[in-house]
Amino acid sequence: MEKIVSLCKRRGFIFPCSEIYGGVEALWDYGPLGSLLKNNIKSRWLKRFVQEQDNIVLIDAAVLMRPEVWKASGHLEHFTDPLVECKNCHSRFRADHMLDGRFIGKGKAETKNQCSQCGGKDFTPPKQFNLMFKTFLGPVEDETHVTYLRPETAQSMFTNFKLVQESMRLKLPFGIAQIGRCFRNEITTGNFTFRSREFDIAEIEYFVEPGKDEAEFDFWLNKWEKFFLSLGLKKENLRRYEHPKESLAHYSKRTVDIEYKFPFGWSELAGVANRTDFDLNQHSKFSGQDLTYFDPSSLYSSGQAKKSYFPYVIEPTMGIERAVLAILCDGYQEIKGGRTKTTRAVKEIEVLLKLDKKIAPIKVAVLPLVRNKPELVKKAKEVYQTLKLHFVCQYDELGSIGRRYRRQDEIATIVSVTVDLQTLKDDTVTCRDRDTMAQIRVEKSKLIEVIQKILEGEEFLELGKLVK
Ligand code: GAP
Repeated sequence: MEKIVSLCKRRGFIFPCSEIYGGVEALWDYGPLGSLLKNNIKSRWLKRFVQEQDNIVLIDAAVLMRPEVWKASGHLEHFTDPLVECKNCHSRFRADHMLDGRFIGKGKAETKNQCSQCGGKDFTPPKQFNLMFKTFLGPVEDETHVTYLRPETAQSMFTNFKLVQESMRLKLPFGIAQIGRCFRNEITTGNFTFRSREFDIAEIEYFVEPGKDEAEFDFWLNKWEKFFLSLGLKKENLRRYEHPKESLAHYSKRTVDIEYKFPFGWSELAGVANRTDFDLNQHSKFSGQDLTYFDPSSLYSSGQAKKSYFPYVIEPTMGIERAVLAILCDGYQEIKGGRTKTTRAVKEIEVLLKLDKKIAPIKVAVLPLVRNKPELVKKAKEVYQTLKLHFVCQYDELGSIGRRYRRQDEIATIVSVTVDLQTLKDDTVTCRDRDTMAQIRVEKSKLIEVIQKILEGEEFLELGKLVK
């Protein structure tokens, strides 16, 4: 894990938040490469679950909502962790403890023996601490203006259920999808970005007829799992965890987590929950609005009464930052002695970040073979200017060509395009494949087409003239 944290900082993926002031626990800033990686994951998700679907629509709702939402959803009452406080220095600690990456003992919390801050031994009894960040709507800071930063995107999909369904004339089953910022005042932190206080959730609320929910749950669980395989995660690093009935969230009839084998152990990457009609029911009660669905087929079926009901909800959810972390862990490889086996590299460790072509942040690096030949540098810059209109590219002229290839391997760049002396003679360039280090010679005029095909997964060596 330390190696991944170090790579992330060194190569511009993830930085500690406010680092110049000493950083903040559980808050992270995504640097230039981390931001591209996050966006690529979001784009894949949007393509798979919104664009390619007939019946799932996207919304982008406000982070702040009316405080009644959190009362109705049960978050004010249930979204808590048990804490004990050291009576001497007032440091607070979680009172439950972790087993196999999960907190256990909620409700019958244990007390701590000794304060890790001051050594004190006197603690308050466990108290429930709400994980939602409190803030005020408007300039008056009193209890009547309190609201919360959303801890999940789900609730705005329930409060907008009727508006979305009617404006888009949707019939069951249909889904509302959303990617958005969520906030949780996590007490237990550590393990890099795994448990952050601010993160993006991508989730779908899929509304179905009651009675069809169990079959839809299984369907979505399979579909959800396949999505993570399509991001390039290794099958052996994924598994399912079925939540036992007694530890289900207050709204859930069934929850299955998709776990990833992180360096610190198997932990939740994503999940699917059967939220039943809990949320629509609650929001109907608290708002006084009718949030039932009128089944239009009941109009036409003879002998059947007109039907209105609360749909059941299947919710596939994932944290984008956890997907980023899993993808980085999965793709990270160290090659002792280096892949090139040059004498200088023998004792070195080379890092290869083998990310899927669709989500790697940089697709193409453009490298002049040397930087002390102005015609070569000029040509390389021309190639870069052309390619960057089509692909996310990086231009690099610093250091030996071997070093630059290694730098690109470390950040998962798919193809390196080298402009060399032969380019000046015949307008061809060398393309190097990240994973095999194979090189082909490609005419400059065909470069865009060839790179496109490489990114689409065509056989690298078939696409040009092999060079040694
Ligand atoms: N609407 C359901 C819901 O919010 P959740 O399991 O609490 O369910 C959804 O959160 C996903 O968000 C999780 O599967 C996980 O990937 C991610 N997640 C939860 N807490 C997180 C945190 N503190 N930091 C980063 N990701 C988190």
